[in-house]
Amino acid sequence: MSQTYSKHTLQKNFNWMPLLSLLLERLVITASSIQTVTLIPGDGIGPEISTAVMKIFEAAKAPIQWEERNVTAIKGPGGRWMIPPEAKESMNKNKIGLKGPLKTPIAAGHPSMNLLLRKTFDLYANVRPCVSIEGYKTPYTDVDLVTIRENTEGEYSGIEHLIVDGVVQSIKLITEEASRRIAEYAFEYARNNQRTSVTAVHKANIMRMSDGLFLRKCREVAENYKDVKFTEMYLDTVCLNMVQDPSHFDVLVMPNLYGDILSDLCAGLIGGLGVTPSGNIGANGVAIFESVHGTAPDIAGKDLANPTALLLSAVMMLRHMGLHGYAKKIETACFDTIRDEKVLTKDLGGNAKCSEFTADICRRVQDMD
Ligand code: IPM
Ligand code: MN
Repeated sequence: MSQTYSKHTLQKNFNWMPLLSLLLERLVITASSIQTVTLIPGDGIGPEISTAVMKIFEAAKAPIQWEERNVTAIKGPGGRWMIPPEAKESMNKNKIGLKGPLKTPIAAGHPSMNLLLRKTFDLYANVRPCVSIEGYKTPYTDVDLVTIRENTEGEYSGIEHLIVDGVVQSIKLITEEASRRIAEYAFEYARNNQRTSVTAVHKANIMRMSDGLFLRKCREVAENYKDVKFTEMYLDTVCLNMVQDPSHFDVLVMPNLYGDILSDLCAGLIGGLGVTPSGNIGANGVAIFESVHGTAPDIAGKDLANPTALLLSAVMMLRHMGLHGYAKKIETACFDTIRDEKVLTKDLGGNAKCSEFTADICRRVQDMD
């Protein structure tokens, strides 16, 4: 006769303590290794692509918990535009953020919240890797470069004034301090990411003092990184050579406005802003990763958006947090879906919905387990 145990006998004869303490330990480990990230979904298609990223992270069991915060322009004491306090507090606490697109009014109203975020958290390095995506056809197949843009000053300083009616002056601010730290960031980046060269992009032949200072700092910093090849090139020459043969470029470092323009050009070489990731990095690990395409109001809320740029920015974020395994898994799944060509959003040449594209990536991520 088989022996049967009543609930009572089980409890009496079994020592639960070791099992309980093991379970408790696991719980503590799991809870403490889950990191909280501030999520700013943004405007237009922002919420849809943010949902897509959250779904994919969940499928990959990435140890991330999201703290959602809205960023709308608000006026603080003294009429200064500021980031809403709840978003600021969340970022101050978590140090890491992921952000969708925020709409920027043209030549009126509040300043760009994108820029205000960079300024508020002193995110001085804007990093945009541009790597050709297999299966997504563009005129180039071998792009593999990174633009590193100074993110706090230059023409973006916001110092403009009316001299007299019809005459406006805008100040391009270049400082020794900001130039040195972006140059150092670029060389450190090259060294840590197995890249071989850094090119300083400038117009010091024309803007002798401002770009001259930037270039001088790059040269000085290069002296401390003899293992990385240093070259300097004029911005216009870079543009010319870039569209002729981008394969010669590796890491490029430059002042703010040049970086804004050149990073879009480079994104264009691999398929556009819809597939290009971006990170804004500050000191002590503080960083906001973001998709740099617009809010696409024409397709917002229709489940048509492509979440790739935000997803690959989130992959950059995982690497920044040292979560390389999860990063690789999600990145591979995303590239596999694109290479496969069966489930693509409209902008990528298919007719799948955002949710279908997302589900395909989730399935691949789960299949990897
Ligand atoms: C970018 C964007 C921003 C910029 C806009 C949205 C203010 O184009 O991140 O490159 O000009 O920096
Ligand atoms: Mn831009």
